[in-house]
Amino acid sequence: MSNSNTSNRKNTLLWQQRFLGLIGPLFYYSLGNLFGFILCLTWFQQQPLNNNDLSWKMSFIPQQGVNFNKKFSQDINAHDRREVASSSSEFIYNNEPTSQKLERINKDHSFLSDEQQDFFRIANATKTDKVSGIIGLEKCLKNDTLCSKPSCVNPRCRPWGHFYQTLYQSRLGHLSTNTTEEFQMLEIGFFSGYGFETYSKFFPRAELHSMEISCSGKWPYPNFAALNRKYYRMLRDSNHLHCGDASDANWLAKIYHTHMMARQRKDDDPPPPLKLVIDDGSHFARDMVKTFFFWFPRLEPGGFLVIEDIQPILEANKFRTQFLPQLMSDLHFCGDPKQRNDDEPCFPLLQKLLHSIHCEMHICIFQRNNEPAIPNLPLDASIPPRHALSLNGCKSLRESFGLGL
Ligand SMILES: C[S@@+](CC[C@H](N)C(=O)[O-])C[C@H]1O[C@@H](n2cnc3c(N)ncnc32)[C@H](O)[C@@H]1O
Repeated sequence: MSNSNTSNRKNTLLWQQRFLGLIGPLFYYSLGNLFGFILCLTWFQQQPLNNNDLSWKMSFIPQQGVNFNKKFSQDINAHDRREVASSSSEFIYNNEPTSQKLERINKDHSFLSDEQQDFFRIANATKTDKVSGIIGLEKCLKNDTLCSKPSCVNPRCRPWGHFYQTLYQSRLGHLSTNTTEEFQMLEIGFFSGYGFETYSKFFPRAELHSMEISCSGKWPYPNFAALNRKYYRMLRDSNHLHCGDASDANWLAKIYHTHMMARQRKDDDPPPPLKLVIDDGSHFARDMVKTFFFWFPRLEPGGFLVIEDIQPILEANKFRTQFLPQLMSDLHFCGDPKQRNDDEPCFPLLQKLLHSIHCEMHICIFQRNNEPAIPNLPLDASIPPRHALSLNGCKSLRESFGLGL
């Protein structure tokens, strides 16, 4: 077949794909049906290559990706390759069978003590994407065409899979033992329960709650949660899976007071303290900050808030670029007039409660200090201020940038 024929065929396919992708959302929102959902997936398959090349990469035409990845492979030298391997998993460039490599990475976890559960092993056995980067990166480095984001410049970012096992193990491993005190935790974004299953095994002493917008079966949302036959009905009936919008502070307050803190347990013991909240929900920056302002003050002293998927994707960008710098500034706030007499916290309430920020690729964990939980924080103080996603709105940052300090 001639080159021009091939390229005409590709163009026709490309336009057909675009057309289907565009009408997908219309079907989806008007009928909420499976057909529309499949067409939406067609739409999501289309990704821009990079800022300079706004042509659409079609994932079913691998040719573009191959060329790009060949170039990429030549560009990174042996040192970079070792770095890539060690930043994700140290077993990528040898010929061991995969099962042995996986065994070895578990042993390599210096954080993993005998009493702790093994996050990687547990997560890898479910379908959660929390450790998908390990398997994905291994495949990608062996075969360029299998990289999912060929346009990324930083190899540590490739492919777009996550490497959450190091953060979970090192920061939350102590909560995974059989002897830790009982506690409550909340996951935002149940989907089909893969993460929930991981947590239920990794945190044997946790009373788990999860929130999901797509689990009531009500229009216009499909019911992803019902796909999980093992948990869905049991969790809904026992008020541990809560179907609703986790960005709605009124609804959050209702669930928190009715089903998490105020309910009586069979043995009449008070409910265990809320020590952990994990946001794996919409990944929109505006929702991430809502999670922060509602849940962080309500965590017990020493508790943790995890926000996943903060990598450079359009919907999440402002969390990383606008919110995090303000919080980082608050973490280091001194208010020393001898240094600056105009220094003030960006978020006065959060600043008083924040002990630490720890981030790894795609994920951050924030720890509470020893200030007591604030269960009855008024709702107007539980929502983000206007400048949460605009660091120019924080006086301290705006002025230090303006002065070029
Ligand atoms: C990335 S998936 C969660 C994956 C799951 N945690 C796992 O590990 O398998 C995100 C889920 O969040 C849900 N979601 C999105 N926006 C939400 C919101 N405002 N409130 C509650 N759930 C939401 C979506 O319907 C989707 O099921």
